[in-house]
Amino acid sequence: MTTNPFKYGTVVTGKDFCGRYELLGGIVKHIESAQNIAIIGERRIGKTSLVREAARKTKGLRTLYVDFFGVKSIDAMCKRIIHGITLMEKKETWITKIIKAIPYIRPKLSVDPLTGAISLTFDASTELREESIPGILSLIEKLANEKPLVAVFDEFQAILDINDSHEALGLLRSTIQFQSDVPYIFAGSIRHKMDWVFSSPDSPFFKSAILINIDSLPYFEYSKFLMGKFRTGKRTIRDEFMQKIFEMADNVTGDIQQFCEALWEVTPEGAEIKDTNIADALTLIFARERNAYENYLSLLTDLQQKCLMAITSEGGKNVLSARIAKASGAANPSSVRKAVSRMISLNILFEKGKEVQFANPFFRAWLVRRGG
Ligand SMILES: Nc1ncnc2c1ncn2[C@@H]1O[C@H](COP(=O)(O)OP(=O)(O)OP(=O)(O)O)[C@@H](O)[C@H]1O
Ligand SMILES: [Mg+2]
Repeated sequence: MTTNPFKYGTVVTGKDFCGRYELLGGIVKHIESAQNIAIIGERRIGKTSLVREAARKTKGLRTLYVDFFGVKSIDAMCKRIIHGITLMEKKETWITKIIKAIPYIRPKLSVDPLTGAISLTFDASTELREESIPGILSLIEKLANEKPLVAVFDEFQAILDINDSHEALGLLRSTIQFQSDVPYIFAGSIRHKMDWVFSSPDSPFFKSAILINIDSLPYFEYSKFLMGKFRTGKRTIRDEFMQKIFEMADNVTGDIQQFCEALWEVTPEGAEIKDTNIADALTLIFARERNAYENYLSLLTDLQQKCLMAITSEGGKNVLSARIAKASGAANPSSVRKAVSRMISLNILFEKGKEVQFANPFFRAWLVRRGG
């Protein structure tokens, strides 16, 4: 039996990476010329995979990967960078060098007794402040001089959630701008935040990187790739069903693949996919994610839940219209606005241009199936 060939929720590279040839070529060139770039795209569209694949395709280069998701302080931000460095420099001798280069943060080397993996731990009382930022970043340059690297700062917009975000950005920028031989890639998903960081004259990072917007993989290319994967398990799927899947997943690269993974699970080898299989796949996704959905709902007030239901039926184009207020029983559009901003901050909804959309299209489908 062939194992499920679909991958979602993880970074995909190599044979699991579909298309984006021109973008990849362009990014590789930028990396080679140490040009800093910023990759902006919606959630689960394929940003991290694109950056990882481009870094992998650039010859003779290693990747320093730092994920800033959820950081709320300069201390956490600095520790994430150091963690990224230790993941790249797995050898003990290197890590000892790192400890020597930044003695003031008093890191300790620890070795996992089971796997032998080395990591750095910090004294809980050591709080890193803004003055540590230049030192930690110069460490990146030092390491790059020993052996070339590309530094990937993922979910970079999270820096804006730090209390002293302006100061943090200023210090990052003032150090990075002198590292002309080190290519930096900044990736992020919350468009208006990333746009502000790189395009607002008030931001320390104003015009400091070439902006690259990424969109969903085009239907023609991605559907062919996915159909090929179904064929490896002798399943066939007609174009009309493929189109339906893209539509249900709001055209989002990762969500489409999540649906295909479930569809594979509910079909036997040799199957020709039918309507009922599509429904079964959705049921499987609901069963797996039900706890998370109920959890989202438990975080919401009655009015917020009603607004959410109104958006499932009326769409998210014009959430401040009287229709949404009426459908949700809100006193006025301004209470709807409050409810919607809370759901945006909880990552249940997100803003796409002037519209709001569900961050997870299957959650919306679940709400619709259960009728609120
Ligand atoms: N080029 C690609 N070819 C095939 N599948 C892809 C590609 N890019 C992304 N995917 C699918 O999308 C999923 C999410 O990809 P990735 O984590 O790179 O996206 P992201 O935009 O960084 O997401 P997040 O917003 O969660 O950080 C992958 O697990 C995979 O299923
Ligand atoms: Mg990502």
